Amino acid sequence: MTEKRLIPNTFGIPAHARVYAEYTSLEELRALLQTYKSERLLHIGAGSNLLFTKDFDGVVLHSRICFARALEEDAEGVNIEVGAGIVMDDLIAQVADMGLYGLENLSHIPGEVGASAVQNVGAYGVEAKDVIREVHAVAVESGEECVFSNADCRFGYRDSIFKNEWKGQYIITSVVFHLSKQPQPRLDYGNLRQALAGKEPTPMNIREAVIAIRKQKLPEPAELGSAGSFFKNPIISPEHFQTILQQEQKTEAEIPHFETADGIKIPAAWLIEQCGWKGKRQGGAQVYEKQPLVIVNTGNATAQDIITLAADITESIEKRFQITLHPEVNYI
Ligand code: EPU
Repeated sequence: MTEKRLIPNTFGIPAHARVYAEYTSLEELRALLQTYKSERLLHIGAGSNLLFTKDFDGVVLHSRICFARALEEDAEGVNIEVGAGIVMDDLIAQVADMGLYGLENLSHIPGEVGASAVQNVGAYGVEAKDVIREVHAVAVESGEECVFSNADCRFGYRDSIFKNEWKGQYIITSVVFHLSKQPQPRLDYGNLRQALAGKEPTPMNIREAVIAIRKQKLPEPAELGSAGSFFKNPIISPEHFQTILQQEQKTEAEIPHFETADGIKIPAAWLIEQCGWKGKRQGGAQVYEKQPLVIVNTGNATAQDIITLAADITESIEKRFQITLHPEVNYI
């Protein structure tokens, strides 16, 4: 299918592509790459992490490569290859139902399989990189098929090589996940264990507990436009943390923080709340009451409303905490 049309995005911001094309196979993808060789290309998934600041004067591509097949399998686990166009949560529902461990903590994250590897999506103590074995892709220039190992992808917090050195160079066509048949529940994040309410930690029960937590905090894209977390959680040095404690006249117990290998992670939600942004509006854009890390479209937000609100939040946090927030959302 190839035509000018609105580009799907969960923020619900109207933006058109000059050409919007979907493909269902590697052959179709190669043909499109050949046809639109000299064009500006943008490959999207479900549009759940994008903010369109204007129409896209080029070709938007979207994968409809939708298959899932078991590869190697033994008593410990199974490798499953999944097409990039499969909706992540549909896959998770299916593998949780089969009793396979690995993806259940990522339940209800909007988005598709291909993008989950680009963005290294994460929630409740698990990131996609923990279960990704291989990434299969097509090189945009040559049309050549490539297979990348987990290490090749250089995964980081909401990050991978596909967003950096290799940006725009490859299109992910499928991902191989390693899932475990042996119980491997990951329940240490926040109140997940509590939300399980003493039930056996099967993949399906964990999935249901995660969905219940998410429904309390995060807007449903179908009801209220958003792109999930708007900012990444910042990491600061231990010295910077001490300075903030002094400035704010607070003890360590009073500021939520998590030690990581790279420094101290402070929840951006806490910083935003401290600066008084919960519920604040800019035109049709609003800081979500239940989770201030999320900016929502109350119905008629323009991209500019969202950009202005995000910039004002960033500025106030810089002033008070000397911390620069970085958007998790990609501005297009
Ligand atoms: N907090 C506040 N005020 C609030 C809400 C939260 O101060 O109103 C503080 C609390 O201290 C809380 C902490 O923020 O303990 C962390 O909150 P939460 O567990 O909700 O997680 P988050 O850090 O805000 C991250 C991810 C989410 C993911 C959750 C759960 C990022 C940018 N966001 O949010 O991912 O679902 O953890 O793992 O890392 C997304 O990427 O779109 C997304 C929703």
